[in-house]
Amino acid sequence: MDADAFRGRYGPWALIAGASEGTGAAFARQLAAKGLNLILVARRSGPLEQLALEIGAAHDVECVIASIDLAAEDATAQLVTAAGQREVGLLILNAGADTNGSTFLDNAIENWVALTQRNVVTLLRAVHHFGGAMRARGRGGMILVGSGACYLGLPGISVYGATKAYDLILGEALWAELKPQGVDVLNLIMGRTDTPAHRELMERLGVPFPDGTASSDDVAALGLEKLPHGPTINWDEPEDQPGMSGLSANARRERILAIAAMSASYAKHD
Ligand SMILES: NC(=O)c1ccc[n+]([C@@H]2O[C@H](COP(=O)([O-])OP(=O)(O)OC[C@H]3O[C@@H](n4cnc5c(N)ncnc54)[C@H](OP(=O)(O)O)[C@@H]3O)[C@@H](O)[C@H]2O)c1
Repeated sequence: MDADAFRGRYGPWALIAGASEGTGAAFARQLAAKGLNLILVARRSGPLEQLALEIGAAHDVECVIASIDLAAEDATAQLVTAAGQREVGLLILNAGADTNGSTFLDNAIENWVALTQRNVVTLLRAVHHFGGAMRARGRGGMILVGSGACYLGLPGISVYGATKAYDLILGEALWAELKPQGVDVLNLIMGRTDTPAHRELMERLGVPFPDGTASSDDVAALGLEKLPHGPTINWDEPEDQPGMSGLSANARRERILAIAAMSASYAKHD
């Protein structure tokens, strides 16, 4: 789809939740190049201001920034306020990583509730609000940035994987409900990707950063390319084979044990 067609279908404004770095910033730069105006959201305003300046210098688009903690109970209300009267034709829910690096019982329950609030409740409220406006207009798109962790319960990322499984199922259902009404929904299921948040976590856990991780630019480009072709795209997996999702009960057990053995150092045990 060329830039004009993309803007006509998903413009004039894109709201990116978790926009200041990694895949979020990559989405922002690529959307600005297509001529979409941007509402950039994250907690720290410094990196958002820098990104907005950079994009404003390179492209003829408007950038609005908003410092919002997506784990706050009123986060979606704050997103709605930040958007104001602007017509949000594209919603990208990118923030979602698990920076806890801990097994379930070795972390305070409040941390798991905050992760669930950001990845499930805020996402749910946001797709309801912005999706409703898109349906009324008969056009628009929503990208739910997910993780391969959605396909299997794994030690060390239990709550994270559960939130991503919720998002996957919600996104697939919304794709089927909204596609006939002109609104595209895509679950962008990422593999390991070179982002500052991921590097920081690996460093904190003393795990060397692995080779062969995806680049944020490539992952964002795939998301924008596949947006009209939902409901789900898996990074680096063929589209015509079952991959990680098509597992029998026995295969699930074996796979959990195998991955748990490989990733034992990714979670802190007290
Ligand atoms: N990196 C990977 O290897 C990998 C693998 C699979 C899936 N994913 C998925 O890819 C997405 C991006 O991951 P990421 O590694 O870049 O880390 P991330 O922490 O999910 O995203 C970073 C961006 O989100 C913002 N953010 C994080 N928590 C926030 C909060 N509570 N409220 C508002 N903004 C928040 C950060 O800015 P502030 O810190 O300033 O808020 C930053 O702009 C996530 O959904 C993650 O699950 C990543």
